[in-house]
Amino acid sequence: MIKAAISGTGLYTPSESISNEELVECFNTYVQNFNATNAEKIEKGELDPLQESSAAFIEKASGIKSRYVMNKSGILDPEIMHPLLPERSNDEPSILCEMAVAAAKDALKNANRSVEDIDAVIVACSNLQRAYPAVSVEVQHYLGVEGFAYDMNVACSSATFGLQAALNAVQTGSAKAVLLINPEICTAHLNFRDRDSHFIFGDVCTAVVVEREDNLATDDSFEVISAKLMTKFSNNIRNNFGFLNRTAPGSENSSDKLFVQQGRKVFKEVSPLVAKMISAHLEENNFTANDLKQMWLHQANLSMNQLIAKRVFGRPVEENEAPVILDEYANTSSAGSVIAFHKHRKDLKSGDVGVICSFGAGYSVGNIILKKQ
Ligand code: COA
Repeated sequence: MIKAAISGTGLYTPSESISNEELVECFNTYVQNFNATNAEKIEKGELDPLQESSAAFIEKASGIKSRYVMNKSGILDPEIMHPLLPERSNDEPSILCEMAVAAAKDALKNANRSVEDIDAVIVACSNLQRAYPAVSVEVQHYLGVEGFAYDMNVACSSATFGLQAALNAVQTGSAKAVLLINPEICTAHLNFRDRDSHFIFGDVCTAVVVEREDNLATDDSFEVISAKLMTKFSNNIRNNFGFLNRTAPGSENSSDKLFVQQGRKVFKEVSPLVAKMISAHLEENNFTANDLKQMWLHQANLSMNQLIAKRVFGRPVEENEAPVILDEYANTSSAGSVIAFHKHRKDLKSGDVGVICSFGAGYSVGNIILKKQ
């Protein structure tokens, strides 16, 4: 079989960021306004008062300190509380496309490749901005890539499932080199009025070049040893936004049309599932925990990652063994594990083994075993 390698990664980070303190100040102003407006009903016991949020809680519960966003002013306006991203004409690149092109160019540069070397584009992310044409085909157009493109969505696992698709394309010869891109505007599906989750997400875009291993143009490459995917249905992370919403008038704007989760249940159910799957996948490929040098895990919760890493390694781990970018970027859905891989892999030597692992809605888990070349 043709071997495949990751030859480059790229990152687009938005220019604006929001600290926990800024976010909480806006949220608490909203809460105070709501409680003042509804004082009479609250007094009569007809309505529960809203509770304030706290920056200390957010950091302790999740490990998040800040997040990058595509629009700060709308999110931090207590009268708006969502990003403001004006619609563009069909003749302009869409915002997802713009982020994707920036990350893709960075990945191509790092892989020492140009667009002529690429023959497939996969855009894999949690939220695609329209039904069609596929965002990937638009990205392909603006990059100037010949070949084919398609979109896919497996929520937080979109990048690893996309890696599997890219790997298959290279291994079967349907493409020589694939650009996998993960544009995530997570703040647009986040309910900034929900105390339990208003702090969770940030925006970013990552890109990965996957190509035939026998003709690389860089020394900084990783052979893809194996990809393993798993899904198991759960209602604990949901977003019911979709094209049928307007066919059920009155429900279009209900809170389930944004991100909703049972965070504690997700933590408890997903952590053991992921740890077990990584260990089993390593074993299937004749590796033990001692062979593993780094894990680039999905970035949703710091304690969750520490727990998973501890179970896989069989001991408490050093920071660089399971690097964290969550503090600065928050949860960026499918892009999180790729950001960790992009920023924290320099210490690996030839022959060292690592895993990129994502997990999230579905549930879904994707694990990719890599060997530094
Ligand atoms: N500020 C202050 N207190 C808050 C708060 C906020 N913003 N949000 C919730 N609380 C309170 C709750 O009311 C609760 O209070 P109580 O104990 O008096 O009832 C307490 O804090 C704990 O709430 P809980 O929701 O159980 O917090 P948690 O410790 O589970 O942390 C998450 C919440 C979301 C950070 C955590 O569950 C998580 O990250 N889970 C994993 C999610 C995941 O991986 N998702 C994948 C999706 S991509």
